[in-house]
Amino acid sequence: MTGSETYSATFNENNQEFVIAGKLRPRSASEIKPLESALLQALSNVRGTLYLNVKRLGRINNVAFRMIAGLVTQMVNKRADLRIEVVTSSVLGWSTRKFLPLAERLPNVTVVEYDKEFYPGQSFLEEGGFIPILRNQTRMTWRHERLLLPRHGLTPGSSIADICCGIGDFAVLAHKEFKPSRLLALDHSRSSLDYARKVAADFGITDIEYVYGDAAEIMIDDNSFDFVTCRHSLQVFDRPELILRELYRICKPGGRVYITNEKNSHCLGEPRGETIQWTYTEVAKLWAHFNMDIEFGPKSGRHLIDAGFDDIRMDTFMVTNRDGNPQDFADMIQAWENVYAGEMARDRGDSPEFIARFRQGFQDHIYAALHPKGYAGWPIWAASGRKPT
Ligand SMILES: C[S@@+](CC[C@H](N)C(=O)[O-])C[C@H]1O[C@@H](n2cnc3c(N)ncnc32)[C@H](O)[C@@H]1O
Repeated sequence: MTGSETYSATFNENNQEFVIAGKLRPRSASEIKPLESALLQALSNVRGTLYLNVKRLGRINNVAFRMIAGLVTQMVNKRADLRIEVVTSSVLGWSTRKFLPLAERLPNVTVVEYDKEFYPGQSFLEEGGFIPILRNQTRMTWRHERLLLPRHGLTPGSSIADICCGIGDFAVLAHKEFKPSRLLALDHSRSSLDYARKVAADFGITDIEYVYGDAAEIMIDDNSFDFVTCRHSLQVFDRPELILRELYRICKPGGRVYITNEKNSHCLGEPRGETIQWTYTEVAKLWAHFNMDIEFGPKSGRHLIDAGFDDIRMDTFMVTNRDGNPQDFADMIQAWENVYAGEMARDRGDSPEFIARFRQGFQDHIYAALHPKGYAGWPIWAASGRKPT
């Protein structure tokens, strides 16, 4: 049901969810009568819990809020069996603050910020421990991606959205190299975005828009960007198809979505190849334990096709100790070891014996990287698809 041009309200009986999205700013209660009737009907008909989803409700004024709060209060007072869970989003900071007093007043009403702890690797990735890893990685992948990006459709002057931008150094590099007409970089980590703004300022760049948001519920209009990137991130999300759907939506018809991902079990090195191989096979299992797929790389094409893209292009490149300074490669491996064999292995409850063996493979990879005759590699899959016109 569409109540006006600016908001929509839908009731899904199967999961007892009433979704209000858009902007709800009526001048008087009579303007939102259809919404009131639909909500009343939903509240009257559900058994148990009604989920009032305001995740994508960008604005609400007091007229509308009073109507909703009044209806909710009236119904939970009338029906002791009824529970209402208001689902808010940290992206719209106001929504939790606005609805929380309702939950404090009414015992059968709760407010849940859906994206507080919403993807498995969040604590590892958003707490800042990943920052040194990301910095180093982007520096090492850029020399390959810089050459590949035009083949994937990035041309100077394109508008670019970098979704799950992390600490934003890809955005800075793309800005310098491709002079986009617009560059927006979005992430769900406030500490990474703070860092990203600082990096941009250090480069004297003022026109990258850094935005806090959820890649699976992007607050950007359909068909907004020529080129949408999402690097090393579908692999950390337990439901990558939700992000791909949004990447597709915000991409212009004829534009392209570019993704990069890894297959960590294919990291390699010589000498000491066997222990290195063992450790990276274990890395893949460790990530899978936390519902993340660090083996996503070769699956990229399938995911892009399933999301509706055509003209799929796929490349694989190997970042190695021989590309530049071997110490950069060694530092990246050390940062991986710190997080994987540190917090992640501990959280999984791994034994000290396992952790010692696990660490050895990383140390051997570093040994291979720094050895004058050694070789150490980290393979990446870069893939893109075109949104049909
Ligand atoms: C492995 S990092 C990659 C960052 C960056 N693209 C890079 O290549 O350096 C994954 C990033 O995805 C972000 N992220 C994960 N899930 C997200 C979501 N649902 N919405 C927005 N950002 C998310 C994390 O905060 C993190 O910065």
